[in-house]
Amino acid sequence: MSNALYDQAVEILERNDLGHYTVPTHGLYPFQWNWDSALSALGQYYVDESRAWTEIETLFDHQWEDGMVPHIIFHKEDDGYFPGPDVWSTNRPTPTTGITQPAVTGFAVRRLYERAKDKDMARKRALALLPKIAAWHDWFFRARDPQGTGMVAIIHPWESGRDNSVDWDDAFERVPTEGVGDFKRRDLDHADPDHRPTHEQYQRYIWLVKHFRSLGWDNSKLHDASPFRVVDPGFNAILLRSCADLAALAEELGEPELAAHERAQAEKGLAAMENLWSDKHQQYLCYDRAAETLIDSPSIGGLLPVFARIKQSRADAIAEHLEKLGQRVKYMVPSHDPDAAEYDGARYWRGPSWLIVNYMISDGLLRDGHEDMAARIIADSMKLIHVGGFAEYFDPMNGDPCGGPHFTWTAAMVIEFLKLTGEVA
Ligand code: GLC
Repeated sequence: MSNALYDQAVEILERNDLGHYTVPTHGLYPFQWNWDSALSALGQYYVDESRAWTEIETLFDHQWEDGMVPHIIFHKEDDGYFPGPDVWSTNRPTPTTGITQPAVTGFAVRRLYERAKDKDMARKRALALLPKIAAWHDWFFRARDPQGTGMVAIIHPWESGRDNSVDWDDAFERVPTEGVGDFKRRDLDHADPDHRPTHEQYQRYIWLVKHFRSLGWDNSKLHDASPFRVVDPGFNAILLRSCADLAALAEELGEPELAAHERAQAEKGLAAMENLWSDKHQQYLCYDRAAETLIDSPSIGGLLPVFARIKQSRADAIAEHLEKLGQRVKYMVPSHDPDAAEYDGARYWRGPSWLIVNYMISDGLLRDGHEDMAARIIADSMKLIHVGGFAEYFDPMNGDPCGGPHFTWTAAMVIEFLKLTGEVA
């Protein structure tokens, strides 16, 4: 059974492989997405080691001069997606969006390097990527933390990777809808409207894009000019984990200065993250930087920090929190607390379980000595695939598949879990 699943996962990776990059799924997402590529490369490694490096190199070939790595690269035209290159108008040689996504590449590249069978190739390719990833991290702390707090803000919900989370609802209300004009969404041609964001949310998404475009995509202006500025602990944890992993990799590759720089960023950020801990919820919370308030919303964003090296006592508290969540859902880990009024088990990031999140959380739990909870999360992830197939995400109560089918990063995570549990040698 497990081997059949492995074969299916490989088939999906191949089906979505366009040579030097992979689409998340044909139809719904016909371009290259930033953190999808980084996480998918982990699974690709087992199929073709060299191809996995290419996935990440392609992403960084489109890095901006200021260090930003865009959230989508529009490698070729496809009018089945909205908003396309004409809406973003970023004036790049290959069109890209003008915002970014979770910085998980530092983590992925270290893992690829450690696993590498072909160490010479890995060393060469990791060395070339190292300064580029470091430039992206520096960009984050410069452009998205101009006050030097140690925590970066997202300026568009799509940057978080958790596009439609309840966490953004109140802050998002501050984003106008006036003057956005008419547009035709294309996501509804490919997915169930009940799974997708609402029309009003889409108007606000587009308002922000047009606002940033009117500022010439100048990242020295965008942070302060955005009515939406939110510090997401999950997003920061991914960046800080990548800083720490890049530091370890740099050390290994004989780049001690870069290592020290990355390590310092990770330490400063982890200390600052403590301001977001909530005793009431026993998890971290988002912070609305524009309104200067914590956001009282118990989402997965506040549990994801276990992926970074937070204090052991916090990791223990998060494991306990997960334990309690596990009594209320059949399939871990719900992206929002099922007892919250806003919970919706089928709608995009407002409840459903995602395998990539399960992977990052279980990785942190394993490191921090919470093997039982990690095992539950991994076992649930595999059950979801048996029940729902290789979907984009799943209903945590009944395992119903949601969003797009034949999903690349879902397949990559299945390969990861099968290897991790030793079900596939
Ligand atoms: C959705 C997800 C985002 C992902 C993208 C492509 O927008 O919210 O995290 O990167 O789809 O899979």
